[in-house]
Amino acid sequence: MCGIVGYVGKKEAVSKLVKGLKTLEYRGYDSAGIALLQSEKIVVVKDKGRIANLEKSLDYNNLKGTIGIAHTRWATHGVPSKENAHPHMDQNKHFAVVHNGIIENYLELKNQLIKEGFSFQSETDTEVIPVLMEYYYQKYQDVMQAFQCTLKDLRGSYAILVISPLLPNTILVAKKGSPLVIGKGNDGIYIASDIPAIIEYTKDFYFLEDGESAIISDSLTFYNHDFQKIDKNSKTIEWEIDAIDKNGFDDYMLKEIHEQPEALKNTLNGIISFNQPVQFVGFALNKSYLENLKHIYIVACGTAMHAGLVGKLAIEKLCRIPVTVEVASEFRYRDPIIDQSTLCIFISQSGETADTIAALKLAHEKGAKTIAISNVFESSITREADHTLYTHAGPEIAVASTKAYISQVGLIVAFAIYMSEVLEISVSLSNELKKGLIDLPNLMGIVISHEDQYKKIAKKLVNETDLFYIGRGNDYHIAMEGSLKLKEISYIHSEAYPAGELKHGPIALIDKGTFVFGIITDPNIAEKTLSNLEEVKSRGANIILITNQNLKVEHVINIPNINPIISPILAIIPLQFIAYFIAKEKGLDVDKPRNLAKSVTVE
Ligand code: M6R
Repeated sequence: MCGIVGYVGKKEAVSKLVKGLKTLEYRGYDSAGIALLQSEKIVVVKDKGRIANLEKSLDYNNLKGTIGIAHTRWATHGVPSKENAHPHMDQNKHFAVVHNGIIENYLELKNQLIKEGFSFQSETDTEVIPVLMEYYYQKYQDVMQAFQCTLKDLRGSYAILVISPLLPNTILVAKKGSPLVIGKGNDGIYIASDIPAIIEYTKDFYFLEDGESAIISDSLTFYNHDFQKIDKNSKTIEWEIDAIDKNGFDDYMLKEIHEQPEALKNTLNGIISFNQPVQFVGFALNKSYLENLKHIYIVACGTAMHAGLVGKLAIEKLCRIPVTVEVASEFRYRDPIIDQSTLCIFISQSGETADTIAALKLAHEKGAKTIAISNVFESSITREADHTLYTHAGPEIAVASTKAYISQVGLIVAFAIYMSEVLEISVSLSNELKKGLIDLPNLMGIVISHEDQYKKIAKKLVNETDLFYIGRGNDYHIAMEGSLKLKEISYIHSEAYPAGELKHGPIALIDKGTFVFGIITDPNIAEKTLSNLEEVKSRGANIILITNQNLKVEHVINIPNINPIISPILAIIPLQFIAYFIAKEKGLDVDKPRNLAKSVTVE
């Protein structure tokens, strides 16, 4: 939520900042702005709306300067407006600040500053930062002291960049609970909320820990929580620039759907090979630990939680250990029963989801072992967890998660197989699933190749206002994910229901012509779901069935047969495409749906 970018170097900053913002736009897109240091003055340009809108008001010929900061906003405090857009400044224009996070005590600070005679222009929490810096600067006449005193006063989460004519050639940086990376390129130093925004310029990144800060000029100086100088080593990230291009696709979402076979292959590379035990480099659990395990929690939000539901089925089937899947925002506030015999797994594509991180901290406090599954190297969740298993889906830019989901499902099933092998149980099922995971990228290619069929179906659904998705077991989990995809990008209301639960209420909503997606990939419960589909059909519903079974229904999308534990990886693909094509038909911005942001760093 909110993206920030900064540059200090030898080249003109504006175009670099705008380019970085465009890559970060998935983090928020209701207003945007930049600030440059120009002839010892701060110049700010900002506006409501998307970055394309900001770009229109940028006069590149006059916006000269090699130091700048920029921001794309997802509103938390104050409506989307020019006044509330970042960067924010103090009234003497000594400090310009961009901020990602929430300053929890901003009202208290604001009231104190107003009493001291300072004034505010916006409704944001962020504006207290430059004003507080100015307050301390007036007191101590020292910018660094002002910066440090300000940081000490802030409660909440932040990644902050500050420029000031009082400290030319410099950006001040601080991080606590919000993501921030610093990259050293050939022509300068780049700072951003995440790696893709600056991968074009460098592969060497520095990661600040919470509470750390830095002074960035032509060199880098890092400080710990107590403002003592510290050394930091850079880490090399081997992502290619291609990974953040649309590569000829109309939208990132479409590109990412197509990248799914590769994402799964990369995620499982080195982990799964047939006739070999599953292995994770640098990570192992021993048999007695697993034998004494009483309970596993899988905690996540949104699509990542749906991947967790598939993981639950796999772990329970293979390892016979009870698993509870919980939404992180509920888990963290309900005093869950956790102790040393509990394993807690946290799934987060971004690794920055505030509720998931808070849930992880809670599990730690209560003594559980914690494992993170994340797609982003060195993200906050990976630094909090005892162990991290990475999905290697590559950067996922569309707000609607696709390739991250199938990679999470693949990885958690691999983890379930791993545990069953350590426990020495479920050998033949483990082998079948290993073979299935190896075969899946090819089978996914087959499902993807029927894109035109999904487009035709989507055209029929464009004017619908309510859709239903039903299934049992993992098919219900696919239904949930399919329904979420539709809602978030097409704005069509939809419900996902366990097929057997329909007649306990929701069937009342089925009317003549209502479209119902049925998902049947488990032969053991195929007939049961089919009967439920007959029930809605006899009430006038139109059925669209996604199945790997030989079933006769008017509209069928056939997918290859595979063990139902991993069938979500195939069955979700037509539903992703259908949601995508409906949104396109409606002329919507598929990659940046309204009200959403890719990374939900506020609770
Ligand atoms: O980065 P995370 O995996 O923690 O994000 C969790 C959810 O916010 C995310 O999956 C969200 O539901 C997606 N927009 C769904 O497509």
